[in-house]
Amino acid sequence: DWVMRDHIAEAVEAIRQQVGDEEVILGLSGGVDSSVAAALIHRAIGDQLTCVFVDHGLLRLNEGDMVMDMFAGKLHAKVVRVDASDLFLGKLAGVSDPEQKRKIIGGLFVDVFKAEAAKIKQTHQRHVAWLAQGTIYPDVIESGGAKSKKAVTIKSHHNVGGLPEQLGLKLLEPLRDLFKDEVRELGVALGLPPEMVYRHPFPGPGLGVRILGEVKKDYADLLRRADDIFIQELRNFRDEHTGKTWYDLTSQAFTVFLPVKSVGVMGDGRTYDYVVALRAVQTSDFMTADWAELPYALLKKVSSRIINEVRGINRVTYDVSSKPPATIEWE
Ligand code: XMP
Repeated sequence: DWVMRDHIAEAVEAIRQQVGDEEVILGLSGGVDSSVAAALIHRAIGDQLTCVFVDHGLLRLNEGDMVMDMFAGKLHAKVVRVDASDLFLGKLAGVSDPEQKRKIIGGLFVDVFKAEAAKIKQTHQRHVAWLAQGTIYPDVIESGGAKSKKAVTIKSHHNVGGLPEQLGLKLLEPLRDLFKDEVRELGVALGLPPEMVYRHPFPGPGLGVRILGEVKKDYADLLRRADDIFIQELRNFRDEHTGKTWYDLTSQAFTVFLPVKSVGVMGDGRTYDYVVALRAVQTSDFMTADWAELPYALLKKVSSRIINEVRGINRVTYDVSSKPPATIEWE
């Protein structure tokens, strides 16, 4: 619509004014905010933008390829993909405490990004002067000293405060005035696929906090496949009254890997394999949440597909805990 087109034209002009002929670096995570920021800045300054996509090996199935396909393939943006999965998995070996895992993942993420940004700074002829971030208005409020809704920080969510100073870069935040809904509308208007723009939130530490205890590559591979089946079926099944998919009727849904084995039977044999838990919640603010009353037919389909298609998992459970007292994530 024309209001959004006007808004894009204005934002594009503002970015051009601010940046001039200097270069911009942006950390692409695959999440909505950084994706929309990247698409907007790319619209404004094209190849003056370099995106850095750090793949920590704890992303969902095919996510890295999808991000590259979208930004490098379709938008023709400059994207550097850093495959750091061995580094992350190496440092996570033997670590089972959730907060410790978060610290390691968040810290490494910043290190890898900084190293890559420094490389880009050196190799560009033009002055690399800007670090772009997909900060949106609610982030501004939350970090602005104003009393945040979270009186107690239960979990250290990874953010990158202080990064621009450390890199000697100025901060470019073109989404600072926008609410989430506006960011999504902007993303669609910029040509990003609605499935990407209307995705459930995904935590920075990714599957690292959805594998309980120690993170191992084998666990991550099993979890990725199980989770992909759950998400596919949430997108397939529609509620008969509203016609909406169960993906759209839930606020967040994912699979959790439990590193315990249970007994099962398959054909003539006994199996002794891992367990996963499905989690789906409905919430307006993520501070409280109800577990979603998914249709039994959907749960049945997901369960039988996971057990039949993912060798190594022989039991599927559904999490019926609300927040509080349970949290949405299991770690
Ligand atoms: P909880 O588990 O605290 O989750 O009920 C509330 C929301 O926060 C997300 N979450 C995180 N996001 N880094 C993130 O970027 C984190 O470490 C993290 N921990 C939880 C969670 O996915 C949910 O949307």
